[in-house]
Amino acid sequence: MSRVVVVGSFNVDHVWTTATLPRPGETLGGRYATGPGGKGFNQATASARAGAATTFVCALGDDPGGELARRLADADGIDLRAQRSDEPTGTAGIYVDGEGRNSIVIGAGANGVLSPAHVAAQRDAFDAAGVVLAQLESPPAAITAALQAARAGEATTLLNPAPANAPTTRELLALADILTPNETEFAGLVTRHVGERIDGDAVTALDQSRLHALCRELLPAGTVVVTLGASGCFVSHAGDALRGDERPFYRLGAEQVRAVDTTGAGDAFNGALVAALAGGSGVAFAAHLRFASRFAALSTEREGAAASMPRRDEVLERFGA
Ligand code: RIB
Ligand code: NA
Repeated sequence: MSRVVVVGSFNVDHVWTTATLPRPGETLGGRYATGPGGKGFNQATASARAGAATTFVCALGDDPGGELARRLADADGIDLRAQRSDEPTGTAGIYVDGEGRNSIVIGAGANGVLSPAHVAAQRDAFDAAGVVLAQLESPPAAITAALQAARAGEATTLLNPAPANAPTTRELLALADILTPNETEFAGLVTRHVGERIDGDAVTALDQSRLHALCRELLPAGTVVVTLGASGCFVSHAGDALRGDERPFYRLGAEQVRAVDTTGAGDAFNGALVAALAGGSGVAFAAHLRFASRFAALSTEREGAAASMPRRDEVLERFGA
């Protein structure tokens, strides 16, 4: 069992639940709740609750949001390595509709100044890590520093290229051993880096061998996992690195659950996946994915982002081993 290091954002989420998402000029009534979020922190919480010793590298303001992050990291046994910033702690305004879909606006605050130097200073954590996970809510230079430190420490690197509108370069993608876009992010990456225009809504219906070919062009040396929400995920390995799987590409279905809030479901999947990878060698990649997918499914049955992450034993109890 090796350590997981997650590098990324912490946000205080402000969540309004309404029947429909607001349109321009519209005023709606909704139920309000606030809680911890940020893709980085959600993923670190998922990793810790899935059973991995987890370090979280981030930037926090000197304010109640920063205090909340410290308190919650402590409660979940997360080793927090926070850069102190004069910027306010990150925030997110989230609307959730009656079908559990969401729209999000981010105020990056401290997340926007996470420095490569602070990341690189956590060398001891990267050296102890089996798996390092980052997303794109932090400055590209800090993400690059994290993945480079991971490579130097011989950890497996996983890049969750979210959100979809974040800038990416082929050099950054190539630092990932495993890339985990959702449909929208995948379509954006293919359009930008492979030069083929595809639509996010069309990804789930694409022919598997076609998806595989696109994944191979996007990340020639690594594994791509395209998450497809309630439809599960699609996996594409590089020919010479099947990670214990028998096939170079395949689809995996998702458990059917009663989703009330899908906020952070992708984060649940990523955090649980790195925890599983850190925990088990000699197990096929597909088995780790199944655990991650079940973990994510369970997180959608609860409201909130980080707060909705289940624990490993809850997942095993609900779905079996
Ligand atoms: O992925 C969900 C997260 O995105 C929310 O918690 C919000 O803070 C934004 O970062
Ligand atoms: Na949730």
